Order: sequence, then structure tokens, then C-alpha cells
Amino acid sequence: MAGSGFGTIRGDFTWTRRLAKDALRGMKAAVVGGTNGIGRALARAIVARGADVLVVGRTFRDPDVPGLSFLQADLSSLKSARSVAQELPAETLDLVVMTQGIVARRQRLTTPTASSWTWPSAT
Ligand SMILES: NC(=O)c1ccc[n+]([C@@H]2O[C@H](COP(=O)([O-])OP(=O)(O)OC[C@H]3O[C@@H](n4cnc5c(N)ncnc54)[C@H](OP(=O)(O)O)[C@@H]3O)[C@@H](O)[C@H]2O)c1
Repeated sequence: MAGSGFGTIRGDFTWTRRLAKDALRGMKAAVVGGTNGIGRALARAIVARGADVLVVGRTFRDPDVPGLSFLQADLSSLKSARSVAQELPAETLDLVVMTQGIVARRQRLTTPTASSWTWPSAT
């Protein structure tokens, strides 16, 4: 599946409320769709404030960022989505962000593991 087409990191807006650099130190976060676009920007912002962040996506673009780890998954497959749900360490996560597959499309998508989806992926 192609990306939304929106996905680049913007640097042209100003945060009105800034979190201290270590505000999230010791916390554990997961960002589903954290490999690109808004999810990637959020993952990088969260890790920069001290948390450990697990990103879920297909292509890891930030292997050089300390504190970021990667779980590869193609969430257009319900089987894969279930597997991710089992692998995410839910009991120890303080924060979960889901940025992927949140816009309904006119066209229905049928996958081998689900009868039909209105959304572009199974999350
Ligand atoms: N940006 C906007 O202005 C805007 C406005 C309204 C709604 N939205 C919606 O908000 C969501 C995020 O937008 P965005 O601009 O950040 O999108 P994006 O740059 O295309 O990023 C999408 C993220 O979702 C992951 N992803 C997509 N399909 C996947 C799949 N089958 N399995 C696993 N991961 C998958 C991508 O992973 P990989 O890159 O690793 O494949 C990437 O990390 C999208 O659903 C978009 O439609 C965006």
C-alpha cells in the first residue's frame, strides 16, 4: 500500500507548549505508524524527551536515533496486526500512539485475512 502522500517532517511550525528535555525520562512508548510522517515526527519528539520508543511500520528510517527500536509489520494483514498486538509489551507501556490507517477511503479493500476493510489497513 502506498503512503498517504502527506508524509514529510515539517519544521515550519512553533510549539506553543514545550515539554522539558527529560519530561518523559524512564517512560516507554510505542508509535504505530512511527516510521514516517506524523508518527515519525512524534516518535522522534518523544524519544528526544527521554522515553524509550518502539516504532511499528514497514521501513525503519531512524536506526541512528538512540532510544528508538523497531518492530516491522505490514498491518494490511489482520494476521500481522494480531501478531503485533501480541508482541507489543502492553503491560509496560506508558504511552501508545496510533497514527496509521485513520482515514476512511471510498474504495473498499479486501485482504486474504479479512472480508473487507473501509480503512487502508487493519489497525
Ligand atoms: N498528513 C496529513 O495532513 C493527514 C491529514 C489527514 C489524515 N491523515 C492520515 O493520518 C495518517 C498518517 O498520515 P501521515 O501523513 O503521517 O502518513 P505517512 O507519512 O504516509 O505515514 C504513514 C505511516 O503508516 C505506516 N504504514 C502505512 N501503511 C502501513 C502498513 N500496511 N503496515 C504498517 N505500517 C504502515 C507507514 O510505515 P512505512 O513508511 O514504514 O511503510 C508510516 O509509518 C494516515 O492514515 C493519513 O491518511 C494525514
